[in-house]
Amino acid sequence: MPLQIDVLTLFPRMLDGFLGESILGKGIESQRLSVKVHDLRAWTTDKHKTADDRPFGGGAGMVMKPDPVFAAIEQLQTPGCRRIYLTPDGVPLSPAIAEDLSKQQHIVFLSGHYEGIDQRIRDGVIDQELSIGDYVLTNGTLAAAVVIDALSRFIPGVLGEEKSLTHESFTGKLLDFPQYTRPAEFRGMSVPDVLLSGNHAEIEKWRNAKRLEKTRLVRPDLLK
Ligand code: ADE
Repeated sequence: MPLQIDVLTLFPRMLDGFLGESILGKGIESQRLSVKVHDLRAWTTDKHKTADDRPFGGGAGMVMKPDPVFAAIEQLQTPGCRRIYLTPDGVPLSPAIAEDLSKQQHIVFLSGHYEGIDQRIRDGVIDQELSIGDYVLTNGTLAAAVVIDALSRFIPGVLGEEKSLTHESFTGKLLDFPQYTRPAEFRGMSVPDVLLSGNHAEIEKWRNAKRLEKTRLVRPDLLK
């Protein structure tokens, strides 16, 4: 059974290109996962298709109303499915979380907007809250795309020949070493001699040293 994913958003067209392209497109084509995008406004009941309203207690911005979201999730959910809300105040996405999600049978993603969503949505129909980083996007739709992309790499067969390992940079908590391909000399810049030497032990040593150097420079927090 392919992993079934539903995305609930007010901006469904933001995902148009994303789903057809690249490795994810192939995963969908080969039926290892199935992604459906839904316009939340389909579950609004007034003629203006109102999905948000002013916050009780005052303050700037608008808050996503509970009724369309409850109706949508109650229609889409299946027993045991994971209902995830994308929000900058959620738990940070990690490789372990992506791997866990890849093993589910059905995930419903809710993309939030404006100043936030009515708390009763989070209390009533959400199982997990995820952030993709400490910055604020205009809405959670791209965040849902990021989570789907990250989890798809853990589904057997999705990466195919392109990559065999799923953790890469984050296994062993070191960043990657520099890669080179032909030509060996390009605009006066040459490939490090060791990579052309055919000496696999030396190459391995060089790559490990480079990973350490890069990690120290860019992500010293990973070495602690
Ligand atoms: N919605 C807005 N910003 C977000 C973020 N950083 N992560 C997840 N959802 C979001």
